[in-house]
Amino acid sequence: MITTALKYQFRSLENIPVKIWSDAREGSLHIAQSIALAIRQRQQDGERLVLGLATGSSPIRIYEELVRMHREEGLSFNNVVTFNLDEYYPLAPEAQQSYVRFMGEYFFDHIDIPKENIHIPDGRIPMPEVANYCAQYERLIDHFGGIDIQLLGIGRTGHIGFNEPGSWENSLTRMVRLDSLTRRDAIKDFLREEDVPYRALTMGIGSIFKAKTIYLMAWGMHKADILREAVEGPVNSVVPASYLQKHPNVKVYADEAAAAELTRMKAPWLVGMCNWSEDLICKAVVWLSQKTGKPILKLTDTDYSENHLSELTVEYDNAYNINIRIFNSLQHTITGWPGGKPNADDTHRPERAQPARKRVIIFSPHPDDDVISMGGTFLRLVEQGHDVHVAYQTSGNLAVHDYDARRYIEFLKESSPDGQPLERMDSMLRFLDTKAPDQSDTEAVRHIKGLIRRGEARAGARFAGLPDDHIHFLDMPFYETGRARKKPLGEEDVRIVVALMEQIKPHQVYAAGDLADPHGTHRVCLESIFEAFGQLGAGKPQNDEKTAWIDGCWLWMYRGAWHEWNVDEIEMAVPLSPMELEKKRKAIYMHQSQKDRPPFPGDDHREFWQRAEERNQRTAQIYRQLGLAEYEAMEAFRRWKF
Ligand code: F6R
Repeated sequence: MITTALKYQFRSLENIPVKIWSDAREGSLHIAQSIALAIRQRQQDGERLVLGLATGSSPIRIYEELVRMHREEGLSFNNVVTFNLDEYYPLAPEAQQSYVRFMGEYFFDHIDIPKENIHIPDGRIPMPEVANYCAQYERLIDHFGGIDIQLLGIGRTGHIGFNEPGSWENSLTRMVRLDSLTRRDAIKDFLREEDVPYRALTMGIGSIFKAKTIYLMAWGMHKADILREAVEGPVNSVVPASYLQKHPNVKVYADEAAAAELTRMKAPWLVGMCNWSEDLICKAVVWLSQKTGKPILKLTDTDYSENHLSELTVEYDNAYNINIRIFNSLQHTITGWPGGKPNADDTHRPERAQPARKRVIIFSPHPDDDVISMGGTFLRLVEQGHDVHVAYQTSGNLAVHDYDARRYIEFLKESSPDGQPLERMDSMLRFLDTKAPDQSDTEAVRHIKGLIRRGEARAGARFAGLPDDHIHFLDMPFYETGRARKKPLGEEDVRIVVALMEQIKPHQVYAAGDLADPHGTHRVCLESIFEAFGQLGAGKPQNDEKTAWIDGCWLWMYRGAWHEWNVDEIEMAVPLSPMELEKKRKAIYMHQSQKDRPPFPGDDHREFWQRAEERNQRTAQIYRQLGLAEYEAMEAFRRWKF
């Protein structure tokens, strides 16, 4: 890990001040506190505060925290006026995906803001009136004295509001066309690409620029590339967020994942002096090896000095010694014994040798993440005799197509004895017949969809060799909204995880350490596990024999279906032979409802087994290029230390 001090030392390539937080929650709380402070100050002076608000996943935690402050600390919003950035067009306010509904659900319905103080562009305005309507919106902002604090997210196209690439610097509130990438990102809300509107109403870059203070938030690694361009790149309309470099009072708040591509994080030696921790040396050597295309053991003093790394060789050690050191440490991450190798010297192994037979829980956010992301390791753990349990955290019912549900309901109907629960089946079929594109499923249909995924998960886990009493379905309540938008993590969710851990008392826990989407299911599932470890006393001295097991419980994180750890982050790499890779593929095949095209494919059109294989093969290739042994594929893990 890079130390905090280091992170703040380098600024030279960043043209906007960026504050990096260890996670989105910390950063969001800070922004919420700043807003609360501003509201209270204005209240004291008998004045109002004008907020410019964004929707999407980025500001949700801020709204949640402001709602908490309202409930628990009496923060009032009666002097607050708000202007939302944008709205899809055309879209009725009551539509599930409308920003009017979003703002109500996350914020306005839970606070005491006067209704007349809320302004959100209206997605129903008839086309001929749009231009006037937008001009009026702009005048209204000016009438209230302009925006005091503007919240912004950043889209993967670099948009702010819905100002897509090509937007002018002085653009005002207007109708725009959405970029195809933005429309694809919106599928998570609309379910089908064809239902995502092509247009939106948005405040312009010029409107945003009139704000006195701007907070731009970037959470999650999917924002890393575009954030670097916005902050370090040239100012131009290709990346509209780069215009913010010209605003006198912008603060960018990013979590570590979103900041990962900033030069000070990715290659800090390029922008200043470094405090060379072992992790940073590893990062630099891997970077140098990849940059020069040479295996680690062939890197020379000249390679180091020609690539801004002479400091490392001159002051710390010569190239040869550094090479050997990092080569060995990478070599030690490789193990075919993910549960530890019994009776072996484990000084340099990722896992402990003892106890030889470990109790293991694999937490899988959706019913297929276990086999997709760590199927090979799962198979090995079972084959090597460990007591493996798998826990499916959510039902995954949202990702089942209606036509699959229908098939099963008809099967149930036709196979049920006379007069049995036919009415129930018929009513589900009637519902599916008339279901509108944006309509949520009834509880009964969700139940069937959940059962479909349960059956597939069971088949996958049995294929890996687990007995049925080692397969657990947690059905965590936060997921059960019937919609893409989930509830925040609740006490009951954590209680369920704690109860399972107390029952099994595992030596190893595997969890999806997927930090890509701060509000996605994976992230919430991970939070539930962190929270459970916390409640069970991880990292604290244990005086009670009954709770002491938590001290010996190691948490290994695998990545979700889309990303992999960087090589310098990997602490355990489990090689897979071609046969093991094929077996893993079969376990993934068990998830039939996710084959071909699941409802939420993201913008990667490959099937899950293809994504998994290519990713595992790529990790093996990288190890090979660094000069380590050549394997067919590798699954990678990072240990979380409390
Ligand atoms: C939303 C908006 C957009 C989002 C951006 C990031 O009102 O104007 O610019 O802020 O698309 O979206 P999330 O936060 O969902 O990643």
